[in-house]
Amino acid sequence: MRKNKIVKQQTEFSILALDDDEIMTVTLQAYFQSSGYTVDIENDPYRAIERVREHPYDILLLDFLMKPICGDKVVEKIREFNPDIFIILLTGHKSMAPPIQTIRELDIQGYYEKSDRFDQLELLIESCVKSIRQMRIIRRYQEGLRKIVDNIPEIYHIQSVDEVVSVILSQTAEFLSVSDLYLCMNTMAGEVLYQGMGSYAARREEGIECLAGVVKKGETTLVIQNNVVFFPLVDEHHRIFGIIRADVRDTMKSDKLQLFELYVKQVCAAVSNVLLHTLLNEKNEELKTAYTALRDNYLEIVSVMRSMVDAKDIYTRGHSDRVAYYATLLAKALGKNEEYIRRLHVAGLFHDIGKIGTADEILFKSTKLTPEEYAEIKRHSSRGKKILSAVTLFNDVAPIVEAHHERYDGGGYPNGLKGTEIPEEARIIAIADAFDAMTSSRRYRANMSFEQAVDELKRGSGTQFDAEMVACFLEVLRDFDRIRKELDWTYSDSKFDETVGNVTK
Ligand SMILES: [Fe+2]
Repeated sequence: MRKNKIVKQQTEFSILALDDDEIMTVTLQAYFQSSGYTVDIENDPYRAIERVREHPYDILLLDFLMKPICGDKVVEKIREFNPDIFIILLTGHKSMAPPIQTIRELDIQGYYEKSDRFDQLELLIESCVKSIRQMRIIRRYQEGLRKIVDNIPEIYHIQSVDEVVSVILSQTAEFLSVSDLYLCMNTMAGEVLYQGMGSYAARREEGIECLAGVVKKGETTLVIQNNVVFFPLVDEHHRIFGIIRADVRDTMKSDKLQLFELYVKQVCAAVSNVLLHTLLNEKNEELKTAYTALRDNYLEIVSVMRSMVDAKDIYTRGHSDRVAYYATLLAKALGKNEEYIRRLHVAGLFHDIGKIGTADEILFKSTKLTPEEYAEIKRHSSRGKKILSAVTLFNDVAPIVEAHHERYDGGGYPNGLKGTEIPEEARIIAIADAFDAMTSSRRYRANMSFEQAVDELKRGSGTQFDAEMVACFLEVLRDFDRIRKELDWTYSDSKFDETVGNVTK
């Protein structure tokens, strides 16, 4: 009865029996083959070493006293290239066994005193078999974990759901050594995604039905039925969102399934990740569309408000366009980015928006202003800030508009800011504003020549204006003929070019 049991259990283990006594090896072979082991025999120690090198035996039974070399020497040579094989040393008598130190050093699992009966040797071999079996499980775990560690980064790097599922299927097929499998899951967009391999390549309906059944049951652990394994895909909220089905030919070892469960957990995280990413991309697209619509409205508002300012005074018509344009040129020369230039351009267009609230009789007065009237005029920058602050879209422009009459030396208004306390964009607008005011005709005076205006800028450098910016602007103005030509056809009916902040017709 015992032997029948063993026959079923041990066929997977192989033994090499080495003894220079042929009768002994033949006897060992006969005995242990009948117990179900695969047993090869060898009588020459050197040939035995080569056979172990060429064949992955699990257990080596060898005699200690042999010619031309003893068993311990044979083991010494084998251990040089094979640390894993289990070795049992056969001795004629206890007193003939090598010292315990040698047995330890050569990693010999046990020794057996030869006798007519092999019961004790059989027990010794069974003990080795248990250890070998455990070693194999550990190796499979190690190998499985290595595969998981190697494969997971790949699925975390893929950004398309279809691709990630395809890679998961290939990895699963390799990991479980199966060819018929599918993955079916609900995406965050409310669709069902199905991919199959082998006989499941085109069984989508079946997959969807099965997924619905698993979701209904709510069983989040793997299920095995008739050589079919179902792995539910579970999200971080413990909700089943998909399923992997694999048809396994033979009964799958539990350690392999445990490892695969570990892999599936990583798969769930990776798939959730990629689904979320896809959803975010879709939402981003929607946001982009909404943003574009919002920006179009915004540009419309800019246009309307600017025309309101310009409409008040024919003499200043086009001034805000030109200020925006000069400011943009200076900002580009200063190496500012697109967003900065956009903001500055809008600030240029709006810098005098506060004049909407200034009484026409003060604004258009051609005689000298009284101190009260001048104070009222000066309120336009603060009023401009107030008007723009009411619209969220203009929040970043409002402080620039407020500060466009501040002076670098602190003598400006409304807050007497000094140097770099003044927003950089406002320092740019101040230069552009002054230059255009000097080179344009006003109802109360004719315009200055270009050279006179340049001299004025130089005179105000470091006091009224930021000196570095003036120097940069003077460089920009070297190309004034071209700039002027461009403005001639530009400012009469201009609009904001949303991409680069240019003024174009
Ligand atoms: Fe102003």
